[in-house]
Amino acid sequence: MKNLEDMDLKNKKVILRCDFNVPIKDGQILDKTKIENSLPTINYLLENNCKVILLSHLGRVKSEEDKKKNSLEPVAQVLANLLKRSVKFIDNCYGYKVKEMVTESSLGEVILLENTRWMDYPEKLESKNDQRLAEFWASLGEVYINDAFGSCHRAHASTAGIAKYLPHGIGFLVQKEIKALAILINNTPHPFTVFMGGAKVDDKLPIIEVLLPKCDYLLLGGGIANSFLKASGQDVGNSLATEDEAILNKLKDMLVTYKEKIILPIDFVKDSGAILDLGKNTIAQYGEYINKSAIVFVNGTCGKYEDHKYAEGTKQLFLTLANSGKKIIIGGGDTVSAAQNLGFANSFDHQSTGGGATLEYIAYGKLEALEWMK
Ligand code: 3PG
Repeated sequence: MKNLEDMDLKNKKVILRCDFNVPIKDGQILDKTKIENSLPTINYLLENNCKVILLSHLGRVKSEEDKKKNSLEPVAQVLANLLKRSVKFIDNCYGYKVKEMVTESSLGEVILLENTRWMDYPEKLESKNDQRLAEFWASLGEVYINDAFGSCHRAHASTAGIAKYLPHGIGFLVQKEIKALAILINNTPHPFTVFMGGAKVDDKLPIIEVLLPKCDYLLLGGGIANSFLKASGQDVGNSLATEDEAILNKLKDMLVTYKEKIILPIDFVKDSGAILDLGKNTIAQYGEYINKSAIVFVNGTCGKYEDHKYAEGTKQLFLTLANSGKKIIIGGGDTVSAAQNLGFANSFDHQSTGGGATLEYIAYGKLEALEWMK
């Protein structure tokens, strides 16, 4: 896999895949971190007088309506402000007009195409890694750079297939993430503790299954903790927890196999019978595990931290982590945004920008899109 600096990029037409999958409400971008993270690579390409042709997905597109709801146009404006130069937005991502507009653009220009997932309706061409689509996007440039770390666990046409048709490499963000996360994949120091929170256990179950043999302790929060508590036979009332019997049985088996590793919460903050945050005894107990760890990876929060009434558990957990003097890596959109909102923006060794990508990388040691770039 080539890094940006290993490639001859001077005066080249470069297709740059970014992850601009940002939260947007009423046309306003609520968090521009992902756009900011793409700036080092874009600026490097501009310093090399490249024509920068940007691709990204946004949300999921399953209908015409979804296309309208998931337009990248607001990103063009924010990006232009950050770059302090104009960004040409093309209101489609496929077809001869797109080709014409990109061809007409000059070196030194920044061009953003519409959401690549527009090509997921009516047929799933982007997500199914359609080779003709990949070839079309490749035909717009001379070099392909992937800097969309958050999307690297998806082998889609714009993240994977396209690399088959052009000289390719990875951008600064992907390089930085791979370097920072390497310690969780090989030669991980022990004890290695994972804190896993978040709403649903169903999505994260395969990752938990892979992480359990690797880690020494798994501390739990959020709906995931509730699901494990339910599987252990505890009454979680109307708390958010899985209803799926097969999953509950799997969790039950895990609780037996990894009895010493899985640490369940012991007290809670509740409202109308529902668990919404972890209590202080739990955080104190988790603190003991954190303090005897060599490294801790955190994905998810203790509860419904967006509501300040239920943010204390997450805040105290972050405080414990920040004061532990241990190597701490946090990852996932919610986790990073909670850290920022609760005053821990610069408290940890690494804040990974990926959600699913970070988890898959740590669990499997590889990312599907990057496998296409070897
Ligand atoms: C993310 O926000 O985690 C990435 O942009 C990936 O998004 P996706 O789950 O829709 O592929």
